[in-house]
Amino acid sequence: MTDKQVRWGVLGPGKIARKFTEAASRVNNAKVVAAASRNKERAQEFADKYSIPIAYGSYEELMESSEVDAIYIATPHSYHYKYAIACLKHKKAVLCEKALAINLKEVKEMIETAKAEKVFLMEAMWSRFLPSIKRVVELVNSGEYGKIVSIQSDFGFKAPVDLNNRLYNIELGGGALLDVGVYPVFLVSYLLGKPVNILTSASFAETGADTQGTFIFEYDKGVQAAITTSIISDSSIITQINLEKARIEICRPWYQPSAIKIYSDRFNYQYEDYKVSGQNGYEYEIEAASTDILNGKTENELMSHQDSLTLMECMDTIRKQIGLKYPGHDD
Ligand SMILES: NC(=O)c1ccc[n+]([C@@H]2O[C@H](COP(=O)([O-])OP(=O)(O)OC[C@H]3O[C@@H](n4cnc5c(N)ncnc54)[C@H](OP(=O)(O)O)[C@@H]3O)[C@@H](O)[C@H]2O)c1
Repeated sequence: MTDKQVRWGVLGPGKIARKFTEAASRVNNAKVVAAASRNKERAQEFADKYSIPIAYGSYEELMESSEVDAIYIATPHSYHYKYAIACLKHKKAVLCEKALAINLKEVKEMIETAKAEKVFLMEAMWSRFLPSIKRVVELVNSGEYGKIVSIQSDFGFKAPVDLNNRLYNIELGGGALLDVGVYPVFLVSYLLGKPVNILTSASFAETGADTQGTFIFEYDKGVQAAITTSIISDSSIITQINLEKARIEICRPWYQPSAIKIYSDRFNYQYEDYKVSGQNGYEYEIEAASTDILNGKTENELMSHQDSLTLMECMDTIRKQIGLKYPGHDD
């Protein structure tokens, strides 16, 4: 590590790793210096495509590399826990894709390991670092518009029906909840905290993966949140935050760099556009994580260990209620 740049290694050169690597090339305090795959040719191909100096044919070589300070874990969900723990034990800072793990037990152990090793660990909940979401959190926390009365948050898309794909494969932590439902569950639990009660309904594919779900979070004083998620239909991907004195809409697709509308009444709103050109939106989380790592921090303030714990506690409750089980992870 130089005093100005974190040397990143990518573990699992798949779809999201491409976006991460492209974004990192636009971030001043980050540089991707290595890519690791379970297969040397895949690592080399990825490294060549993005002009990355080192290609490793195993994840272990990346963890052991003295050329790398931090590792971005971009594997399917069921492998986050295993590889994050191993990276942390090799004293590598870790930015791990969402959902951070399969269940709360795993998340707790990952955080305990990061603390014991005194190494940085953050869930790659990239939406938290977007200017649009930062602005919404700031507006809600300012109290200017009163308290939250209710939230509606949706993230659904129609994925190709391929029972062998990661999304449908229960062994890889497939399903709507871990893949996209995690975004609205994150936003709601971030803004309102842990609910006093959760009501759920879900549908399943023949593989056992959940294909869509509706979850109601109940809070004190009648406050409610309605979350919908799907991998079988294209839905609104809009979030509405209904406050005592205003309604904030995070426009479609709300989890990406987006615009917001602040409605002062039923018809009139102020429009704030936070869309960006020439970027994919992952730059913000990479810069934030790199800044923390350069400053010797072990967690990030905006997406803290506690935020990941609260999020996964909600996810665990949902999973238990809908009967979603991941072999080898759940008792
Ligand atoms: N796709 C997106 O737009 C997106 C967006 C945000 C977050 N994410 C998150 O990023 C993570 C990865 O998603 P992805 O869509 O990038 O996945 P992906 O392309 O299907 O897989 C990522 C990589 O994981 C590695 N891997 C390790 N063990 C594996 C196994 N047993 N089976 C299959 N692959 C394995 C593979 O690399 P090697 O075999 O070469 O080592 C593969 O290229 C997930 O947590 C997801 O929620 C994805």
